[in-house]
Amino acid sequence: MPKPRVFVTRRIPDAGLNKLRDVCELEIWPEPLPPPYEVLVGKVRDCDGLLSLLTDRIDAALMDAAPKLKVISNYAVGYNNIDVAAATARGICVGNTPGVLTDATADLAFCLLIAAARRLVEGYLYTLSGQWKTWEPMGHLGQDLVGRTLGVVGMGRIGFALAKRCRFGWDMRILYHDVRPNEQAERELGARRVDLDTLLAEADFVSVHTDLNETTRGMFNLERFKKMKPTAVFVNTARGPIVDERALAEALQKGYIFAAGLDVTDPEPPLPDNPLLKLPNCIIAPHIASATFATRNAMAEIAADNLLAGLRGEPLRAWVNPEVAPHRRR
Ligand code: DGY
Repeated sequence: MPKPRVFVTRRIPDAGLNKLRDVCELEIWPEPLPPPYEVLVGKVRDCDGLLSLLTDRIDAALMDAAPKLKVISNYAVGYNNIDVAAATARGICVGNTPGVLTDATADLAFCLLIAAARRLVEGYLYTLSGQWKTWEPMGHLGQDLVGRTLGVVGMGRIGFALAKRCRFGWDMRILYHDVRPNEQAERELGARRVDLDTLLAEADFVSVHTDLNETTRGMFNLERFKKMKPTAVFVNTARGPIVDERALAEALQKGYIFAAGLDVTDPEPPLPDNPLLKLPNCIIAPHIASATFATRNAMAEIAADNLLAGLRGEPLRAWVNPEVAPHRRR
């Protein structure tokens, strides 16, 4: 029996690839940049499985070009790059990598929060450029953290993990906004579910942890930034398009908010004329929230397990569209 054909859109850790090597006929895109869309369509034409990254657009047209495709395993917890409804309609299973990147992502959200609040990058650049002449009693002033209020927008696993750090490490009060109540957050962290306007008005730190979908796209616009405190710090480790970046730049420039820490932009990387790149009170990391050795290994393992389960007709370890089961391609 021929081995199933699998295309992997970038080199990922061996912890995942080694699970696939013996059982699949594997092709791994060798370049540092993603395969262009047209190339990807050509590559998946004869494939049974696709291991994709968040940088790959996986749409209905691509699926139509791959009549044997049984499973798309995304090497990410987010899957806004995949048209899941189109996959389900075609009997294709979709997997993702939840859980294993929760702590790494919450750590980076906190890292951006404290770095933006305390103007760490600005200070570092000041040192590097030789401007540091003496201890400055009025220079580099930032925001305190202890006892302040954290507003979590999207109280899922990652929002909870950030809130836990802020509650128990920094004695913060926790507000959250979510379509669903999170009883664990309310019980264990004393978190209070509030409408978005209340959260924006009361939070000292606003951290975004929602999915990108049609409701959240552009959610943070100028009107919303104007509702925040002038001392507030805004953090986004979720997806860039949740934020209107022109509005964020205006809010930072005009002092509607104090600072921002971003791990995601729209597009990625930001275009050279993006005004956020010129602002000293905006820190931008290159989408590295899950970038620890252990986390990326664990993501690779889940992605490989999802792919194998999809090929074998078994339930996926992390299954985005389990409703496809009765009519999945075999
Ligand atoms: C994800 O998994 O969705 C992150 O954005 C990258 O790890």
